[in-house]
Amino acid sequence: MDRVIDKTPDRIAAMFDAIAGRYDLLNRLLSGGLDRRWRARAVGALHLTGEETVLDLCTGTADLAIALRRRRKGAARVVGIDFAGRMLEHAARKLDALGMGGRIGLVRGDAMRVPLPAASVDAATIAFGIRNVEDPLRTLAELHRVVRPGGRIAILEFGMPTLPGLSSLYRWYFRRVLPWVGRFVSRHDSAYAYLPASVGAFPSGVQFRRLLDDAGFVDTTAVRMLLGVVYLYAATRASAAEARDGGRGL
Ligand SMILES: C[S@@+](CC[C@H](N)C(=O)[O-])C[C@H]1O[C@@H](n2cnc3c(N)ncnc32)[C@H](O)[C@@H]1O
Repeated sequence: MDRVIDKTPDRIAAMFDAIAGRYDLLNRLLSGGLDRRWRARAVGALHLTGEETVLDLCTGTADLAIALRRRRKGAARVVGIDFAGRMLEHAARKLDALGMGGRIGLVRGDAMRVPLPAASVDAATIAFGIRNVEDPLRTLAELHRVVRPGGRIAILEFGMPTLPGLSSLYRWYFRRVLPWVGRFVSRHDSAYAYLPASVGAFPSGVQFRRLLDDAGFVDTTAVRMLLGVVYLYAATRASAAEARDGGRGL
């Protein structure tokens, strides 16, 4: 589908600011609580040892940042970056309530110009954020810049299931039911109609893996979850030698 969707940063940030207060509730409701399990799998894909500093880009209300810290042998420190100020305010309140403020820093910033030095983090994540950025390849290049050589990344994003029967049922839920529930609960006219439209127009599976390859990552994998409703992508930032050998590790 090549419908053009307006993803100018001001529009996207304003949309998330507007739904920030209901965002967590809608996540739980619309995923039936499965979103927590998806985030846990993303943390697992980083193979952390408990010592790492991890960037959570497009952190929103910080659910993945929290999951990164909560896991036994999870991240030692997390930096959560997002450009929507109200999403970050909710994140900060949650961290205070959980007493986690000390080890999770929140920074307002753009995923296309990550405000961190090169090779400054051991690993990075993005959950349901890459689809919203205006230039995903540029964001992946930014991840490649800030993650140290040998570091891992994990990205969660929606896809569309392809199983006959299930796929039409899911399309009906995604395009009819979800926008209606989303509008009713968030009281925002278009945010939950934007969700299925943006998912339908975004590359998934092999196509998205190709973007990871193009950004210079190696060992890229794409795991279909819930029959393709969600994908977990993971990859490694090539070491200098691998980068010289074109990612073949020769
Ligand atoms: C669907 S939410 C996901 C939030 C969180 N990662 C989660 O799993 O719940 C997408 C987030 O990406 C942020 N975002 C989108 N484009 C961005 C950009 N260019 N720079 C920084 N944040 C961005 C939005 O503000 C929003 O908080």
